[in-house]
Amino acid sequence: MSEKTALFLLAALFVGALHAAPTIQPDPKKDPKYCGACHQRIYKEWASSRMGKGIHNPIVYQFYTGTNPEGQQDGLGFQPFTHGEKGDCADCHVPELVLDEHAKGHEVDLGVAMKQRQDYGISCNFCHTIAHAEIRRDADGRYDTRLFDSVKRDPQGVIHGPFADAQSPAHPTVADPNLRKAELCGVCHLNQERFLSISTYDDWKKAYAEGKTDKTCQQCHMPLIDKPVLLADAVTDRPKRNGTRAHTFGGAHDPAMLRKALRLDMTPRVDGERLVVETTVENIGAGHKVPGSGPIRNVILKIDAFDADGKPLPYVGGKQGLLPPLAGTGNPKNGRRDANDWAGMPGKMYAKVYESKPIPKMGNRRMVGVGGFAADRLAFDTTLKPREPDSARFVFKLPASGATGVTVKARLVYRDAFKPLSDRKHWKLAQREMASVVKKL
Ligand code: HEC
Ligand code: HEC
Ligand code: HEC
Ligand code: HEC
Ligand code: HEC
Repeated sequence: MSEKTALFLLAALFVGALHAAPTIQPDPKKDPKYCGACHQRIYKEWASSRMGKGIHNPIVYQFYTGTNPEGQQDGLGFQPFTHGEKGDCADCHVPELVLDEHAKGHEVDLGVAMKQRQDYGISCNFCHTIAHAEIRRDADGRYDTRLFDSVKRDPQGVIHGPFADAQSPAHPTVADPNLRKAELCGVCHLNQERFLSISTYDDWKKAYAEGKTDKTCQQCHMPLIDKPVLLADAVTDRPKRNGTRAHTFGGAHDPAMLRKALRLDMTPRVDGERLVVETTVENIGAGHKVPGSGPIRNVILKIDAFDADGKPLPYVGGKQGLLPPLAGTGNPKNGRRDANDWAGMPGKMYAKVYESKPIPKMGNRRMVGVGGFAADRLAFDTTLKPREPDSARFVFKLPASGATGVTVKARLVYRDAFKPLSDRKHWKLAQREMASVVKKL
């Protein structure tokens, strides 16, 4: 056999291999870009939201595959923890693919689906072809959050929307009151693992029943458009309609939403040689706990007190007034701290913190602040329920010269992940301010 024939055979083999294992290609008619050709404004809003960017979210990919931004395995994530299982991670992140593959008896690997773009993520077509969304719990109160149990799709793929007289040249439509119900969102914003690790819908349902919020998810996260607009901007022979909502889905990544969520009060008071700082934090703007979702999110109340020369006052209060290690302890290799390592400083962490099982390699210590998939027990839950104020107290030693010129600063910041976790995964820690108060004595 000549070298040329061998090469030819090798090439043919590769072509054969490609034919044997075709990669999954999503239907181009379900591509949000296809919908966006007519629904231009809605497409732009959705595409700049977290749900629109979901399929590209590197944090999700890395936490599933246990890799870091450099593509190296770091052992931190779902697949290393489960020795490569697929689990249910794909359900809410690539929902149409999961339902399609489930119907064929296949499981979906979220990492592969994201890398090969086998799905459009939380797409227009997915939300608008849901015919029925039902959130069930068993006798023990545990939710069934598998997507193929909670969602029934329209068998003909008819587009469901809020308007009864909508007419589209591209697709049949049907008016569906379920579009305006929280259950449409709840099927994904609720994750029953060993614990209810994402509890947003359950939190909302309780708050709504108790009258602590009178709004649905859509009413807060899809702002009302206050003028008549076309449903499809590229099709101009249809009437402009009132009462439509923007597909912006702003949440914890939207500074304006974050500023609406919490009220922060802070009162410093002189008590002999000590300065007592009292704080109240109340969730006045969110219809669920804050932080509201997965167990790696956290909100930190940080208190700083300075003398007239800007020197920090020594903290002399109880240990419960100091931030836990999850607020950041510095580089584990050299102990060096950066400006965002706040463990041991005055403040309070609002978060839902889980611990793993004892890990033999770590001398049977438990990892603290783990994702829901690794949660074995709850360490603490200080998340802020709607309309339930939380008070805290911090005590400092006043300078010999007294309280004059002393400044106290309180601020609330939102962190996407615990600082030690972001450090270990080489994630750039996203930290956004929610509220702040400064008082001078
Ligand atoms: C029942 C639905 C559901 C399942 C199952 C699910 N997720 Fe998620 N996931 C969500 C939702 C909803 C969010 C958004 C929460 C937010 O940002 O407020 C999210 C957010 C995340 C984030 C944070 C992304 C960021 O940018 O900070 C990561 C990481 C993640 N998921 C990984 C996983 C992994 C790994 C699994 C499997 C163990 C999984 N998810 C299973 C619904 C789900
Ligand atoms: C060729 C243009 C075109 C394309 C492509 C298109 N639509 Fe439409 N769509 C329309 C028009 C026109 C209407 C109705 C406008 C009206 O009656 O006010 C409409 C209405 C809708 C409605 C409202 C239905 C109701 O009953 O309230 C939804 C939801 C919708 N489209 C979603 C989609 C989705 C999802 C896709 C992609 C899978 C898509 N559209 C693709 C033109 C289009
Ligand atoms: C198919 C599952 C699914 C459905 C249905 C769904 N979501 Fe989401 N949502 C997600 C996931 C997953 C994310 C996180 C995406 C990411 O960051 O990669 C998310 C993110 C969000 C965020 C952004 C949070 C942040 O931290 O910025 C908001 C707000 C949100 N969803 C609101 C809604 C609302 C309102 C509805 C109902 C109209 C809804 N979602 C329906 C899965 C879903
Ligand atoms: C997370 C689920 C979700 C996704 C993703 C989504 N929508 Fe919607 N859409 C809704 C909901 C809920 C409403 C109803 C809002 C209301 O109460 O009027 C709606 C309403 C609409 C309407 C009617 C106008 C209105 O405001 O009532 C159109 C048209 C539409 N969507 C098109 C799209 C297109 C196009 C995309 C993708 C670019 C998309 N949607 C993505 C949930 C979604
Ligand atoms: C009364 C208004 C209101 C209602 C009702 C509401 N939200 Fe929110 N939501 C907010 C505000 C404000 C924030 C920003 C604060 C924050 O991130 O916790 C937020 C944040 C979020 C986030 C970001 C995650 C996080 O850390 O909090 C998600 C996801 C979300 N909401 C989903 C939902 C879903 C799903 C529902 C319905 C089951 C819902 N919201 C109902 C106001 C609301």
